[in-house]
Amino acid sequence: MNSLQLISPMEGHDLDQIMLLERSIYAFPWTCGNFSDSLASGYSAWLLKVGGQICGYAVMLVAAEEAQVLNISVAPLQQRTGIGSALLAHLRALAVAGGGSRMFLEVRRSNEAALAFYRRRGFRQIGERRGYYPAADGREDALVMELAL
Ligand SMILES: CC(C)(COP(=O)(O)OP(=O)(O)OC[C@H]1O[C@@H](n2cnc3c(N)ncnc32)[C@H](O)[C@@H]1OP(=O)(O)O)[C@@H](O)C(=O)NCCC(=O)NCCS
Repeated sequence: MNSLQLISPMEGHDLDQIMLLERSIYAFPWTCGNFSDSLASGYSAWLLKVGGQICGYAVMLVAAEEAQVLNISVAPLQQRTGIGSALLAHLRALAVAGGGSRMFLEVRRSNEAALAFYRRRGFRQIGERRGYYPAADGREDALVMELAL
């Protein structure tokens, strides 16, 4: 992470900007309510800014030694510049500090970029959820991935 990048807690006043990014990244984005519910529930929610601009964000739930990454996203123009790695390293350090021993996440079967990203960082597939996600032509499977912390 270079000196221009800053990770800080996500707050309610960030959600307008986050929703602009979320809609630009995903065909089936989270709703604003998904983010505000995450904040209200005390989930671990973070922003990464570059030069004061939000370029990435992540949401994680840590419970009973298990960390679940619920959202990790990077603005399209800033993808593949290390921001996702910085966010994941941040979540991982927090999960370990919180007593977590395993990290989980779900990813669309067709999301080859994210699958490559997670595999390069040590995640392995441990299962799948059939028809977990909405898709343009019906439903799409999720692959369940795990990382030992
Ligand atoms: C997946 C995502 C979070 C990764 O973050 P990132 O900042 O782009 O990734 P980083 O720059 O930290 O790491 C890049 C590495 O990830 C992998 N990767 C990322 N994008 C890739 C792509 N389009 N094709 C292949 N590998 C890719 C590669 O291993 C790459 O390393 P390399 O550039 O040396 O080959 C980000 O691309 C993103 O937000 N994608 C859209 C939203 C999404 O799919 N989120 C995950 C949902 S489960």
